[in-house]
Amino acid sequence: MSHFKIALIRGDGIGPEVVNEAVQVMDRIGEKFGHVFAYTDVLLGGCATDAVGKSYPDGTAEICRSCDAVLLGAVGGPKWGSTRPAHERPETALLAIRKDLGLYANLRPAALRPALADASPLRKDISAAGIDLMMVRELTGGVYFGKRDKYQTSDRGMEATDLMAYSEMEIERIGRKAFEFAMLRRKKVTSIDKANVLETSRLWRSVMHRLASEYPEVCYEDMLVDNCAMQLVKNPGQFDVVVTENMFGDILSDEASMITGSIGLLPSASIGDTAPGLYEPIHGSAPDIAGQDKANPIATILSVAMMLRYSFQLMEEAEAIEKAVDEVLALGWHTGDIAGDTDKLVGTREMGRLICSAI
Ligand code: IPM
Ligand code: MG
Repeated sequence: MSHFKIALIRGDGIGPEVVNEAVQVMDRIGEKFGHVFAYTDVLLGGCATDAVGKSYPDGTAEICRSCDAVLLGAVGGPKWGSTRPAHERPETALLAIRKDLGLYANLRPAALRPALADASPLRKDISAAGIDLMMVRELTGGVYFGKRDKYQTSDRGMEATDLMAYSEMEIERIGRKAFEFAMLRRKKVTSIDKANVLETSRLWRSVMHRLASEYPEVCYEDMLVDNCAMQLVKNPGQFDVVVTENMFGDILSDEASMITGSIGLLPSASIGDTAPGLYEPIHGSAPDIAGQDKANPIATILSVAMMLRYSFQLMEEAEAIEKAVDEVLALGWHTGDIAGDTDKLVGTREMGRLICSAI
């Protein structure tokens, strides 16, 4: 029997509800496959600001490091908006924990699930070609972590700057992750940059070219970020592994998730070179539906599958979760975010229960 320690960041909005269902699923997996999952609650985000006055309480990273993996629901909400001081904002906490745990690689798979082929907002002839891509987003560098400044000028009013910086080391390690993933998939890497304008992108491109020569089996291409935004809706079937810097990846991963039908379905993993990885749904805290048993728990449940696969090497268990999700969706059960038969509309808890019993 194996024991795994999991830090749970339930967070804000719908976070606690979706994490509850994910915990039920882990317990069901434990029961079926003979593992023990032990949970430690960790306070982070707006709920932490309310409780202790800081969105990233002291000692948070240490607690997470003492666990084997971290599962996060969602953080943020209008209550802790951008007018608050930085230490009270949930986004600050999220960026800080990623940095402190060294989670430089964010894996965001976007795939059209077979039972939901009709849910894609794309034209049928485009979605029929299939969507199955893995966005590999650099997560601890670039403009989200660069020096910021805001100052008064004598003649132009206030001025603000955000520095975008990348080192060869940072580019190489994320690039390597992308090529390694491509070797396990369809062996294609598309690297996204803005090398026609940005110096960071020209450095990015030169490092990626060096890596491409180390992986001759992988078909490699460069693509400008504006073109990628267009190609994702025009011909998403062309992509296998897409690797890009932090801000481009933030934006393009939302677009990639939307073309698969619902952002409520997509999981993500943030990993570094040492444990623990952090697993979270791509969606946010959805304060408008929080506490109403309406949220789709599937993205968080599929994040657990990623955790089992990437942090614990429990392949069979991960597949059991994915299979159960597909089965429940194929039977027509859905939460409100997925279009379908209104007779088969279920809430967060019932969706969790259906998936547990399918396992
Ligand atoms: C995401 C989110 C975060 C990010 C925000 C909340 C800081 O948009 O995980 O994509 O930009 O990384
Ligand atoms: Mg985002």
